[in-house]
Amino acid sequence: MALLVTGGAGYIGSHIVKELARSGYHPIVFDNLSEGHRKAIHGGHLVEGDLKSFDDLHRLFTTYRIDGVFHMAACCYVEESVEDPQKYYLNNLLGTLNLLRAMLEFDVRRIIFSSSAATYGVPQYLPIDEKHVCVPISPYGKSKWFIEQIMFDYAKSHGLEPVMLRYFNAAGADPEGDLGEAHRIETHLIPLVLKVALKQKQKVRVFGTDYPTGDGTCIRDYIHVTDLAKAHVLAYEKHFCGPEIFNLGSGKGFSVREVIEVCRKVTGAEIEAVDAPRRPGDPPSLVASNERAAKELGWRHELGELETMVETAWHWHRKHPNGYTDETEAQKEFFGEIAIRMDFITHEQLDEALKLQKDMDRKGTHKLLGMLMLQEGMLSNSQLIQILKYMETKAKQKVPQGAAPAGKANPAVEKQEEN
Ligand code: UFG
Repeated sequence: MALLVTGGAGYIGSHIVKELARSGYHPIVFDNLSEGHRKAIHGGHLVEGDLKSFDDLHRLFTTYRIDGVFHMAACCYVEESVEDPQKYYLNNLLGTLNLLRAMLEFDVRRIIFSSSAATYGVPQYLPIDEKHVCVPISPYGKSKWFIEQIMFDYAKSHGLEPVMLRYFNAAGADPEGDLGEAHRIETHLIPLVLKVALKQKQKVRVFGTDYPTGDGTCIRDYIHVTDLAKAHVLAYEKHFCGPEIFNLGSGKGFSVREVIEVCRKVTGAEIEAVDAPRRPGDPPSLVASNERAAKELGWRHELGELETMVETAWHWHRKHPNGYTDETEAQKEFFGEIAIRMDFITHEQLDEALKLQKDMDRKGTHKLLGMLMLQEGMLSNSQLIQILKYMETKAKQKVPQGAAPAGKANPAVEKQEEN
């Protein structure tokens, strides 16, 4: 039985793929690898493609007999969605519409959809149950809510059988150590704090200290990613016929300061935290009522302690300080060469950075070349992103590494990183 997992090479998707394989299914991962990683696929088969291309999807459904779909692929940064709503509506809505069109054409009805607590907006009461009104405050949250509404309509008129899982804050890493959280541009609290513990980042910013909460910082409900993945398998195996919605959270809320404190305790590291202004699109508190998932799915969050989440995440980040990337000498040279050809640095600066890196390696504090150049003020954030994106595209196209472009900063990317 083949199950399609869109976005199965990403953080949550990869944990779902592993869990499905463990339960005896054959997951087919459909991913454009823009955020996902080939190496994150354990127990599934990768088909590279983009949900925005109906042709890619049609080819996939023609090649494999798909019995059900787990739809995780989406742009998922609240703040970015406020800055670039079009990206979110195009990716999340168009991608889903294409997917549903392919499903109907090939008579596939069952879909488990990765929805979000961001659909609720600012809660009117806590804990939030599934009956709570949805007034999403970010384009990201709206995109997820619109998709839910579309799925209700498709259920009524086309016989779609959607189960919509509203995730609260996924955290932690595969307890066996195979998988973890590795975003190309990290914005999430726990991995950022752990980067400070690893000395890859100097300090963490606390976004907003004047919220109406105990210590003034935002409260979130963290749920272990493996528990989240298990809920997907349960939801699929229940074989619901009509549309269903379930919250997936632990039912406990932690403030940003409390999370940082738990990270200090688990890592034993000094973690510098500085107060910063509120981040657009953040509601003050989100805490789930998970009663429905417990009752209807028989779901239990087995790794429910925040400490366990941070411990598993810390274990993974320590073992994989560069995420899924192996920084080989060749990549390093390629990186430097692109930076020079893009007119971002000079040959002399590259030599200086490589020398600095060697010195740091000798002292046992390895730093990625790009991060080091950033720290030394040789590169700006936006320049670093452009180089990484270029390297990634070339790696996918398997273009010889020397073929770096001459080019100037891309204003869209620059804006995204400045914020
Ligand atoms: N935060 C900081 N400093 C940081 C990063 C985050 O203070 O450097 C704060 C945020 O402002 C927020 C909390 O930490 O209050 C958690 O932020 P995350 O970015 O880790 O997660 P979000 O709550 O923004 O978003 C996550 C998922 C979304 C989902 C949402 C639902 O990424 O997809 O949970 O709760 F919609």
